[in-house]
Amino acid sequence: MLVQIPGLVDPHTHLRDLDWSHKATFASETAAAVAGGYWAIFDMPNTPPTTTSRPALERKLAALDGQAICDWGVYFGASQADNTDEYAGVAGDVCGLKIFNNATTGDLLIEDQAERERHYAAWPPSKIIAVHAEEDTVLDILALVRKFRRRTHFLHISTAREIAYLQAAKDEGLPITIGVCPHHLYLTQNDERALGPFGLMKPGLKTAADRDALWEAIASGLVDVIESDHAPHTLAEKQTQKPPYGVPGLETTLPLMLLAVREGRLSLERVVQLVAENPRRIWGLPCPSETYTLVDTDAEFTIERRRLHTACGWSPFEGMRVCGIVRETRIRGCRVFDGEQVLVSPGFGQNVFCRDA
Ligand code: DOR
Ligand code: ZN
Repeated sequence: MLVQIPGLVDPHTHLRDLDWSHKATFASETAAAVAGGYWAIFDMPNTPPTTTSRPALERKLAALDGQAICDWGVYFGASQADNTDEYAGVAGDVCGLKIFNNATTGDLLIEDQAERERHYAAWPPSKIIAVHAEEDTVLDILALVRKFRRRTHFLHISTAREIAYLQAAKDEGLPITIGVCPHHLYLTQNDERALGPFGLMKPGLKTAADRDALWEAIASGLVDVIESDHAPHTLAEKQTQKPPYGVPGLETTLPLMLLAVREGRLSLERVVQLVAENPRRIWGLPCPSETYTLVDTDAEFTIERRRLHTACGWSPFEGMRVCGIVRETRIRGCRVFDGEQVLVSPGFGQNVFCRDA
């Protein structure tokens, strides 16, 4: 069945480029995005130079402006070297503030609660704060949400305990939303041995009970967004003694969620909410006219590296049989992907958060 889904948004990607263009580029990863069916994707600030100053932001905006194939947004990053005086000036150009509260790839990390509080107090309320917070750190961030009432999106939630904390916080009426990644839905610690470095990401893979709690929280309506946390690293880097954390996901997220529909876990309507309607609503983005993806929900395929557009050229889901083939991605009236090839030049994509857009 050919289904038309309007304006898919992935609010959680690490596109690299800039000083990490050996891993991937804005052109390569936004091509992967349209092949995966996405209209717009938002880029995280942990790629060097970190997006924590006005000049670094300008450099990223200019590069994306020239290279992006899909529409896009970028996060500004909270930095240990206090950068809060930049906040009022940059908020209009970005999709939100990202605070890394637990260790991961890159240099951004804020572990001191008083420091986190300074960032919460300074960020303009008009834009969301997206947080990497695991286990008890979720409670630390909820204390700040309670105090400052800033809209907060909890990225890549991966455990039953975190789900319980966030369910209570929603019941309390706190202004929070929740994102979950496909790798935490389809893989567990039991897959770590087979996957080796290709199963390493932050937050890491969890138990089958945690995975089941995530599926339940999706079915119950608690989870708001399915986000890829697309984080390409080269094959060579992954095969070193100390492999970096992160897995690609832009081209596998929609088929994995459509597999869940096929298996009777979720309705197609619920998937459309999670990958398109909810992220558009949370980030306040109307869907532009003639912006949609045509996907054949019955067509099956096997995830294979040779079919991928991402520069990293591998997937933790390789060999998996999924369903849902993207036949066309259309953005603002223009056919940008025809099921095989990208049809527009780098630079077609626009910043959906540009002040004068
Ligand atoms: O596994 C991860 N990789 N988790 C993150 O939070 C960052 C990402 C990256 O940038 O590689
Ligand atoms: Zn991430």
